Amino acid sequence: MQQMDGRFLITGSSGQIGTELTVALVGRYGADRVIATDIVKPNRKDCMTAALDVTDADSVKKLVKEEGVTTIVHLAAILSAKGEKTPDLAFDVNVNGMRNVLNAASAVSGMKLFFPSTIGIFGPDTPKDNVPIETITRPTTMYGMTKLFCEQLGEYHFRKYGLDVRGLRLPGIVSYRTPPGGGTTDYSIEMLRAAAGGGNYTCFLKRETMLPMMYMPDALDAIVKLLEAPSSALVHRTNFNVMAFSFCPSDLENEIRKINPCFSVRYAPDERQAIADTWPRSLDSSAAAREWGFSAKYTLSGMVRDMLMNLAPLTRKE
Ligand SMILES: NC(=O)c1ccc[n+]([C@@H]2O[C@H](COP(=O)([O-])OP(=O)(O)OC[C@H]3O[C@@H](n4cnc5c(N)ncnc54)[C@H](O)[C@@H]3O)[C@@H](O)[C@H]2O)c1
Repeated sequence: MQQMDGRFLITGSSGQIGTELTVALVGRYGADRVIATDIVKPNRKDCMTAALDVTDADSVKKLVKEEGVTTIVHLAAILSAKGEKTPDLAFDVNVNGMRNVLNAASAVSGMKLFFPSTIGIFGPDTPKDNVPIETITRPTTMYGMTKLFCEQLGEYHFRKYGLDVRGLRLPGIVSYRTPPGGGTTDYSIEMLRAAAGGGNYTCFLKRETMLPMMYMPDALDAIVKLLEAPSSALVHRTNFNVMAFSFCPSDLENEIRKINPCFSVRYAPDERQAIADTWPRSLDSSAAAREWGFSAKYTLSGMVRDMLMNLAPLTRKE
């Protein structure tokens, strides 16, 4: 077990990242130290669970206080594509949820708060390649705008109340255990699921749409490393860029075809293309590497092999 005191509260723990991060934190710190929450009580047996709506300030504060929480991992959010369909909900969950979690966290001395930001905080005016942390950030989606504000609100609590807040800008995350929750990079998981199930795929992005991505094991490793980094080593706080590799839908299609030569993709871009067009192709992750040892192990081909191997039995059951 690792040396981090106290108890962990995870919000949004039933989502794509939360499902797996909860397992990782239970394995690392012990079942009695992890409380998994979501808007509906999570259905899992490996740790304590509770229903927690992050837009309900009193409930957030009460749970943090009563359960002796010392680290909050705040994942609850409405993602990019879903956020464009429900912008008011995205504003409420992403902004008010973050404010409630920050206020509850700052009320407890010695609290640590982690939350993931996103490549969605960049916009059409941002340079496309090897994007630095500090650059033009003028997002055009509700998701991007709210997440950029969350980064800044986190910094505010760090400066004003001394809250130990940490966050990174995740790229598109590929995983097989839990379906993604309505993001623009979900096509990659859908394509891999279709291939594993023996079918073909119709892609909602254009074949050449290059975006920064990462495989889930590397994302989990990055989150744990940032959580455990000594506070004194952090020059940045809420806005570390991280990515493993960039690919476009046709790169993924070609990689799948190396394993399954019959697989084919039809391209029928929808409204999600306009979101993807505003995002960068690649990010400069060097500050994360320097300040807390970020590194990603998986390559595109390693990820595709692992995804197909793990998805094959799952898709047979569906
Ligand atoms: N998955 C990605 O590719 C990706 C990329 C960049 C950043 N992120 C960030 O990582 C975090 C987790 O993303 P994810 O992919 O697991 O998302 P997801 O959509 O799969 O899960 C989000 C969870 O939040 C919960 N939720 C929604 N409203 C809530 C509320 N009011 N109170 C409590 N819970 C609520 C949902 O029920 C869901 O289980 C988010 O903050 C997201 O912005 C994800």
